[in-house]
Amino acid sequence: MEKYLNINELRIKAKKKVPKMFYDYCESGSWDQKTLKVNSTDLDSLQFKPKVVRNLANRSTAVNIFGEDYNLPLGFSPCGLTGMQYADGEILAALAAEKFNVPFTLSTMSIASLEDIADHVSRSFWFQLYVMKDRSLTKDLVTRAKSVGVKVLVLTVDLQVLGIRHNDVRNGLSTPPKITFRNVFDMILKPKWTYNIIRSKRKNFGNLEKYITNVSNLSSLSSWINEQFDESLSWDDIKQFRDMWDGKLIIKGIIDEDDAEQSALIGADGIVVSNHGGRQLDSCISSISALPKIKAKIEKHNIDIFFDGGIRSGKDILKAKCLGAKMAMMGRPYLYGLAAGGQKGVERCLEIFSEELDRTMALCGYRDINEASESILVKPKHWN
Ligand code: GLV
Repeated sequence: MEKYLNINELRIKAKKKVPKMFYDYCESGSWDQKTLKVNSTDLDSLQFKPKVVRNLANRSTAVNIFGEDYNLPLGFSPCGLTGMQYADGEILAALAAEKFNVPFTLSTMSIASLEDIADHVSRSFWFQLYVMKDRSLTKDLVTRAKSVGVKVLVLTVDLQVLGIRHNDVRNGLSTPPKITFRNVFDMILKPKWTYNIIRSKRKNFGNLEKYITNVSNLSSLSSWINEQFDESLSWDDIKQFRDMWDGKLIIKGIIDEDDAEQSALIGADGIVVSNHGGRQLDSCISSISALPKIKAKIEKHNIDIFFDGGIRSGKDILKAKCLGAKMAMMGRPYLYGLAAGGQKGVERCLEIFSEELDRTMALCGYRDINEASESILVKPKHWN
């Protein structure tokens, strides 16, 4: 996989290998895709003002999160339908994450189940959860997560209502894909993907199968989501959830600084500053531009900041670190790697990030990633 030199080259390969329906599901933002775009353009608008003549020998990109050492300040964001980018995708991605010693987060909407992942990895992984109306279902998922050794729960709070996603409607997104002329034609053009998916036993929503009745595709699943997801979710509910879960709790989907503080006040251990990769509210501000105010507001609290939204290079990871994130998280990049080459492709994605981060850090004058500070960044004037 060494011929892929950056994340965009993996993306181009992924597009050739995965049926359009699933490539579009991964790649698209909601509505007019303004937020998807601004996540990247705002990261690009940050520039480095490097320091030179520093001792750069023996550099380290290692970080400690909740008492665990990781090789990079880069985690895997939860991604729905990962096992449709490549057969058994969640397992392969989790194995790559384990090999590179970075945290993997399994989505509620994964194809492989919690138990399935646990059977394949030896290290504890993180689990992402939505709060459902049926609290017994939510509780059951939490119990299952605990019994397979999950210690970190990532509670997503920005998807109680689904964003409008035109491409998914146009493509008739479903898992497994419906047998239509267009889908079959597309699958014939992607023979390796098709062969692997046919051979795999994992084709449905592994975590939810046992609760879902009469649902065979994602369009009816989205009506199931509309029925199940608790639109009346309140901070009191989240507080109750906090009290029920004795592991680490991260609240994902925070953009507003008061919400960030509220998360700290109810006792969360972390937040993910995130607009859901531009897949929920369109015309939302970029995740990176939300970071400085959030950091300032919660500095006095004992809570870690995670960040996702537009991470495509090691430069982006350093920018997020400089603005206060303890760890950046990525979704689409590892899906590109996975689609391009299975586990090897995800490993290539991690190699690219690792090398780029090390090189950027050194050229900015840092020997240890934990020294990163805002002093080497120039922000666009309109952010202030
Ligand atoms: C799920 O979280 C999605 O964005 O599709």
